[in-house]
Amino acid sequence: MGGPDGVSVGFGIIGGMNNLLPPPRLVEPGSGSTVIAPGSAVSGPASLTDAVRLALPVLDLRPGDAATAAVRVEEDPGLGPEAYAMTIAGDGVRITAGGRAGAFYAGQTLRQLLPAEAFRSAPVPGTSWTVPCGRVDDTPGFSWRGAHLDVARNFLPKREVLRMIDLMAAHKLNRLHLHLADDQGWRVESRAFPLLHEVGSHRPRTITSHKGEPLAFDGVPHGGYYTLADLTEIAAYARARAVTVVPEIDVPGHASAILAAYPALASRPQERYEVLDRWGISSAILSPLPATVDFLTTVFAEIADALGDVPYFHIGGDECVLDDWAASPEISAYRASLGLDSVGDLHAWFLRRLADALAERGSRTVVWDEAFVSGRLRPDTIVMPWRGEHVARRATAAGHDVVATPVFPMYFDYAEAASPEEPAGLGDAITVGDVAAFAPAPSEWPEDERARVIGVQFQLWSERIPDGRTLDYRAWPRGCAAAEVAWTGGPVASEDFVRRLEAHLARLDAFGVEYRPLSGPRPWQRGGTGWRRHRPGVVVVHDVMRHLHELSLSADSTRPSI
Ligand code: ACM
Repeated sequence: MGGPDGVSVGFGIIGGMNNLLPPPRLVEPGSGSTVIAPGSAVSGPASLTDAVRLALPVLDLRPGDAATAAVRVEEDPGLGPEAYAMTIAGDGVRITAGGRAGAFYAGQTLRQLLPAEAFRSAPVPGTSWTVPCGRVDDTPGFSWRGAHLDVARNFLPKREVLRMIDLMAAHKLNRLHLHLADDQGWRVESRAFPLLHEVGSHRPRTITSHKGEPLAFDGVPHGGYYTLADLTEIAAYARARAVTVVPEIDVPGHASAILAAYPALASRPQERYEVLDRWGISSAILSPLPATVDFLTTVFAEIADALGDVPYFHIGGDECVLDDWAASPEISAYRASLGLDSVGDLHAWFLRRLADALAERGSRTVVWDEAFVSGRLRPDTIVMPWRGEHVARRATAAGHDVVATPVFPMYFDYAEAASPEEPAGLGDAITVGDVAAFAPAPSEWPEDERARVIGVQFQLWSERIPDGRTLDYRAWPRGCAAAEVAWTGGPVASEDFVRRLEAHLARLDAFGVEYRPLSGPRPWQRGGTGWRRHRPGVVVVHDVMRHLHELSLSADSTRPSI
């Protein structure tokens, strides 16, 4: 998409600056280059220069004065908070940023203009730290550019979360959705209700068999949780890198770990609950009575206080089996006293009460799409339509802001190919190309509904992601494609993307990312015959999609059990 006189507009790029990922909105290549060597000086307002320094750790930039600095940063409040302009000339780099995030993104772009060695943790001797001259003007297409990490099914230690934030920042992603509670584990310290982490954070074993196979378990205890201080640290680390942590406590379903700790909160309080050692949808569900709302409001407040500024709080709402509510005389009487006709209405009413409590603390609620269908949500609730475009459309038509999170192509726990070489995923197959071709706000939608799509997010459900190495393999390079869609606001022109991606992979190599090569897994990344053996067809994404399309939009369970 080259414009006149070598100017490249509308996210196309030409000339010496042609390998940026995601591509800036406008690039104007110049001639010649400049050198920004480790230890160079950066000048400007401290909050902005700090952001540039954090984006370029390998250079160890030192504060200096404007007359001699190699990188000069200025603020222009007229630009959006994430926008920046950067001019690279023979005498150094000039950055103008709308705010801290913009300065950080200018630093990230500068890092990509340097050799791939800029992605290492320390300078490698012999590197030529040259940057091509030219000009960049940039601002994102979507405000929500998300990555979701399920740390409940398989816990990821804090160091992996911090590393994920570094990788998100390198791709200008800005929302880290942490799925902190599910049937298989509760992952945060609670001082108010300590049994949550003491009992809910571990299980004695984990299922190894797949759907249709004889049940088998590994016999290996699994667990872990973040202390409240860990959460404070993670949120501050993220904030410094222009990433907002979005905590999720998934309720009222997916609640086995909570109920193992506090069974009195169950709809069948006489039942004994355990942290689940297998996947799939559980019928364990919290009671909707006021004691549960009080309990959750207290726990949400603890988490929000630990995180600091919490603009968004996700409360789940998905895959609820409401049978226990229907069977309980006490819950039925409560429902009737509220004038509600069905357990579906009660589900919506319960989530609405939690959302109102969060709003009082200044957080906007986010939900999976099952929570939206009853029409009782607060109008400011953000909906994540995981069941696809038809639900997304209904949510935007109803006036909700939407973050596009459809199974296809945004569930990165699905394998990249239906091949015996692949390690087992939750299903087959979601490719880099599928992600790049995704249109979060399809052009055929009415303009007002398109405007309600505030972003896009990929999901890393962790049933088949037991560790950081597997996380790398699943997340990248599909995450690169998602970052392009999120930054540019639409599907990506495939040939240009693939060319830039090939260059970008050298940066990921330098960073130390064990991504999936475009040609397929490396020998040691293959499925093999052990626990990660690929079972093509166990859950096939197209079947799942057909199933999802057939669904009536109720609060029914919809995720395939495995
Ligand atoms: C989901 O996959 N249940 C949001």
